[in-house]
Amino acid sequence: MVFYIFAGFIMERVVSGIRPTGNLHLGNYFGALQNFIKMQETHQCYFFIADYHLLTTHPNPADLHNNVKHVVVEYLAAGLDPYKSAIYLQSDLPETAEMYLLLNMNAYLGELERSASFKDKIRTQPNNVNAGLLTYPVLMAADILIHKAHKVPVGKDQEQHLEMAREYVRRFNNMYGQEFLVEPTAFNFGEKLIKVPGLDGTGKMSKSESGSNAIFLIDDDITIEKKIKSAKTDLGPQGMNTPFSPEIENIFLLFSLVSSPETLKFYQEKWNNGEEKWYGGMKKQLTEDMINFIKPIRERIKDLYSNDEYLGKVLKHGAELAQESGAKTVREMREIIGFKKFY
Ligand code: ADP
Ligand code: TRP
Repeated sequence: MVFYIFAGFIMERVVSGIRPTGNLHLGNYFGALQNFIKMQETHQCYFFIADYHLLTTHPNPADLHNNVKHVVVEYLAAGLDPYKSAIYLQSDLPETAEMYLLLNMNAYLGELERSASFKDKIRTQPNNVNAGLLTYPVLMAADILIHKAHKVPVGKDQEQHLEMAREYVRRFNNMYGQEFLVEPTAFNFGEKLIKVPGLDGTGKMSKSESGSNAIFLIDDDITIEKKIKSAKTDLGPQGMNTPFSPEIENIFLLFSLVSSPETLKFYQEKWNNGEEKWYGGMKKQLTEDMINFIKPIRERIKDLYSNDEYLGKVLKHGAELAQESGAKTVREMREIIGFKKFY
């Protein structure tokens, strides 16, 4: 196994990306970005914007460009550092498309059709079930395997895709009798992968659901206040030491992300004691802590958004780093497969 060595330390490689489907929200931050930011201190990181992946939804060119810009800006505003990580566009590493073609030979129809995300898309976009949707996990595997990543920081919803990527590695390595590709694992600094719930108390916070279900990194103070005010709660604790209702469990999860442990404990005790009428105060506290968390990120987003020259520099540098690593993998893979030059 080849590792990158930096200042005498062996660094594991990390890859992750986010589809540019709109502004990033708390789910993206805590499920993905927070880990990116920590990992760039200790790993060799490749973080990209998955613009090829977005094509499954047939975006118009202006929207595509705009959405890509949003994600680049929000990556940087949240704390990704172009001196520590390669920050690049997936389409700036077109070797990914060749890798995708090569891996497609080791991906089988039955298992692609069984993928939860594919089934979900058939349900949500029945009029556009294109082949890109079916082979989405193969393109994702190409993104990861092209840098021979060891770890992939993603939310829980991506675990199945990672399992598929590992399977393609085993098949490729078996077929050619060598340990060339590396099996990646899903990664989160917490004990388990985080799922940030939506504000309506059901499902996960998501860009695709209605805007009020998610708190975005770009939300202003008043919007945050309104959203938290309308977050679903229940009738209050029905006795002492009862289990949380799903709605209150979700609120406490949000608290655990942006508030201090003392604040969390304070409200947990109220619940455990079966106290009445404290939800209003709890929501006010959550709003205050949420605003304190989002505000500095939002301000950085505003500054960066108008600085196209800087964004261009960051992405050019990122593309060069990604090329260096990704083109090499594909070149070697071609040789292993048996493509030989006649000239
Ligand atoms: P969305 O569902 O909002 O379109 P994406 O599918 O683009 O988000 O996800 C980008 C990254 O953010 C992925 O790593 C995903 O696992 C993570 N993520 C998205 N929503 C959540 C959530 N509610 N909780 C935890 N992680 C999430
Ligand atoms: N499928 C991921 C998502 O929907 C985005 C993604 C594409 C990705 N390629 C990746 C994540 C490679 C990690 C690694 O969120």
